[in-house]
Amino acid sequence: MKLPDGPKAPPLVQMLQWLADPLKYMENATQRYGDIFTSGCGLNLKPIVLVSNPLAIQKIFLNEEKQFEAPSAAKVLFQPFLGELSITRTDDSPRHKRKRQLLMPPFHGEKMATHGQLICEIAQNVMSQLTPGKIFSAYNPMQEISLRVILEGVYGIRGGERYEHLRQLMVPWWEALSSPVESTLLYVPFLQIDLGSWSPWGRFCRLKKEINQLLLVEIQERRQQYDPSRTDILTMLMSARDETGQLMTDEELRDEMLTLLTAGQETTAASMSWALYWIHHLPHVREQLLQEIASLGDSPDPMMIARLPYLSAVCQEILRIYPPVYSSFPRMVKSPVELMGYELEPGIEVLVCNYITHHREDLYPESKQFRPERFLGHKFSPYEYLPFGGGNRRCIGEALAIFEMKLVLATILSRYQMALANNRPVRPHVHRINVVPSDGPKMVITSQRQRQEVSLFISNKQHEFTIQGSER
Ligand code: HEM
Repeated sequence: MKLPDGPKAPPLVQMLQWLADPLKYMENATQRYGDIFTSGCGLNLKPIVLVSNPLAIQKIFLNEEKQFEAPSAAKVLFQPFLGELSITRTDDSPRHKRKRQLLMPPFHGEKMATHGQLICEIAQNVMSQLTPGKIFSAYNPMQEISLRVILEGVYGIRGGERYEHLRQLMVPWWEALSSPVESTLLYVPFLQIDLGSWSPWGRFCRLKKEINQLLLVEIQERRQQYDPSRTDILTMLMSARDETGQLMTDEELRDEMLTLLTAGQETTAASMSWALYWIHHLPHVREQLLQEIASLGDSPDPMMIARLPYLSAVCQEILRIYPPVYSSFPRMVKSPVELMGYELEPGIEVLVCNYITHHREDLYPESKQFRPERFLGHKFSPYEYLPFGGGNRRCIGEALAIFEMKLVLATILSRYQMALANNRPVRPHVHRINVVPSDGPKMVITSQRQRQEVSLFISNKQHEFTIQGSER
């Protein structure tokens, strides 16, 4: 079997280059070797084939069930974060299919309406805690918003001791392996040694154990006092049955809850931080968005916000230019497959590089320019535009993530006048496995709109936030 050509540096050197800057590594290799190349960055430094050609991607996603499977690399990468019952660690096709059938219904687009009010309220509340005139890193409030959407909308835990405890544990857990040196531990399983609570790995493991215990107790209590009228996603999943009529076990639910947090929090926070950057970096984009949002009048229905065409195009462009997850999960060849003239044998791992596809000049001319207009009146195929991956493993939280992005942006823009705090160029920075804006970016609230000018997305129940805000 002849693998596609690729970088010649020793695999360990390539791995270090990848860890230092995966986007640059992929760009350099694509420039030199084209749409398909072999890298030395597979698990245990084995070769892995990287693909960015839409026709090859189509072939992978359409033939996934017959010719590909989730490889050990994906399981190993997620193992430290997620329990063994998590969907991301399920490789057997029928078991994975069952998981998706159970998990997907509460995430369907039409189910999002029930979370609209909550998302606007959380955005409003988090932003109201920022001090006008004081510089902040936009990533922090966006992380707080996306964490609370998961805790309150997905888990259905609002207020109380357990809620506070989970909030306090989750960010440090998530941050525990954030430096480049610490995140190397994720890729090198034999370094994952627990040397006590002061070692990075030990701290990470203890926090995870505590979070898991809290989640399990929550699930057990909620089973005992089951309330079908609740609209959170955990309640829906508690009553979901598979084809044989089985419910998910408590341990299965616990592992999936942590999966949804891990997969959904930082990704959405990163996209919203990028959004704040691009919108304030390009005044014409901000102006057009403000006009569009204002056209809905006061108290628009969140579903109307979600349908705004320019806002939708802005969100699409944000996820195109720097997709927070810059590649799909790896796939392993199960039965021989031909990709762009290469015969790939079973055991070879393949990675779809959505970041590279999103910068193909034949699809996206001047691809480094932020131009939402690309998406107005033009629909790209799912193999040309794929921030949420594709095929059997396509992201489950896509509808929630996009809905959240739109509502949070509309809430913030209609309420606050903000500016970038400096002219320093903002660059993509890989934080663990997500692409986030370097420096946050740093922003400042310059003024708050008067109450009568504001489109109020909140009901009377949340009136206090409005008054609090406009008094500043
Ligand atoms: C902008 C935000 C998000 C982005 C860019 C994103 C992107 C992705 C990508 C690229 C994949 C891998 C797909 C593949 O390999 O083909 C994925 C998988 C997944 N995502 Fe997301 N995601 C986001 C938000 C969310 C949210 C909010 C949730 C849930 C709360 C979520 C849950 C999942 C799950 C459970 C999987 C694994 C699916 C499986 O293994 O079958 N994601 N996501």
